[in-house]
Amino acid sequence: MASRKLNVLLLFDVPFAPENHLDSSEYMVGDEWKDERDVMRALSRLGHKVTAFGIFDDIRPLVDRVRQARPDVIFNLCESFNADRSKEPNLPALLELLGIPYTGARPEALTLCKDKGLSKKLLTYHKVRVPEFAVAPRKGPLPKGLSRFVYPGICKPLGLDASEGIAQSSLVTNAEDCADRVRFIHQKLGTDAIVEEYIEGRELYVGVFGNDRLTVLPPQELFFKKLPTDAPRVLTFKAKWDDDYRKKYGIDSDAARPIDPKTLAKLNETCKEIYRLFKITGYARIDLRLSEQGECVFLEINPNPSIKKSDDFAFAAKQAGISYDELLNKLVHLPLAG
Ligand SMILES: Nc1ncnc2c1ncn2[C@@H]1O[C@H](COP(=O)(O)OP(=O)(O)O)[C@@H](O)[C@H]1O
Ligand SMILES: [Mg+2]
Repeated sequence: MASRKLNVLLLFDVPFAPENHLDSSEYMVGDEWKDERDVMRALSRLGHKVTAFGIFDDIRPLVDRVRQARPDVIFNLCESFNADRSKEPNLPALLELLGIPYTGARPEALTLCKDKGLSKKLLTYHKVRVPEFAVAPRKGPLPKGLSRFVYPGICKPLGLDASEGIAQSSLVTNAEDCADRVRFIHQKLGTDAIVEEYIEGRELYVGVFGNDRLTVLPPQELFFKKLPTDAPRVLTFKAKWDDDYRKKYGIDSDAARPIDPKTLAKLNETCKEIYRLFKITGYARIDLRLSEQGECVFLEINPNPSIKKSDDFAFAAKQAGISYDELLNKLVHLPLAG
């Protein structure tokens, strides 16, 4: 099965209306298109026939293209529609209606994982350890729980990602500062907020892929090698995206430092359980913190995480002896299996 050569349509979002959808590969220059370029090249090297298609704010060209070209599978790299990230789940929903197999997560999984409050409620029910939290919707009064909250806490937008809205001032030590930051998120970012118990500990990223049979990849760890030891270790927007800042404080992720075998086994089992509870298909990266007492605390799950060659997921696969091309071949065949 995995050796079958496929007709693949690589679907991705573009931040403007493409003039010609027929060969969107011309947009794939520059750093922000690394995922698309890497996937396209790997699938081509594997002998699949790959065409690229960019989507912005109009679904009709995609519908026409799918009907004409009848690809075997769509490699879905879409994260937004009309530059709106909250619409990410609607793309696979459309592909379902078109009856075309696609890689990665289904719409319901994408919707659930995006909501940092709902996702924690689900895991609490299943007794997976999550930070204490309180959701502060944009409409309505601030939750009463903020005054009883056990600080320090971290205030985050409820449904954004890529560290958007996360800064040093997201860390709050009392109800007053917390309310200020919550209002900032409401007013400046225009979204609901969540306040979470700040979890001290090592930050780990665990890649998982598969549908019925799951593979858990070796954990990666976020390092702050040159940060003073008492400074909080948080992947703020600056820490994630500002190369000079990253260099200055030695911020980078790499293979995790050794974890004792019992804790590692527990971590792997917990990650499999989380993956299943969110009904993930394809691949996902689970972010956790590991406390000094060896307790794994869930932070968030990222379905369809970055799959470029230089990112954590592919890097972890390589450590597990799975080459980049092999990984892509597995992911592209998953929606067609069984
Ligand atoms: N409850 C928490 N305790 C400690 N650190 C946290 C917590 N929540 C988030 N962080 C820090 O903030 C970063 C970004 O938060 P996250 O919820 O992953 O948002 P995003 O979806 O934008 O990546 C995390 O990688 C971590 O460094
Ligand atoms: Mg994150």
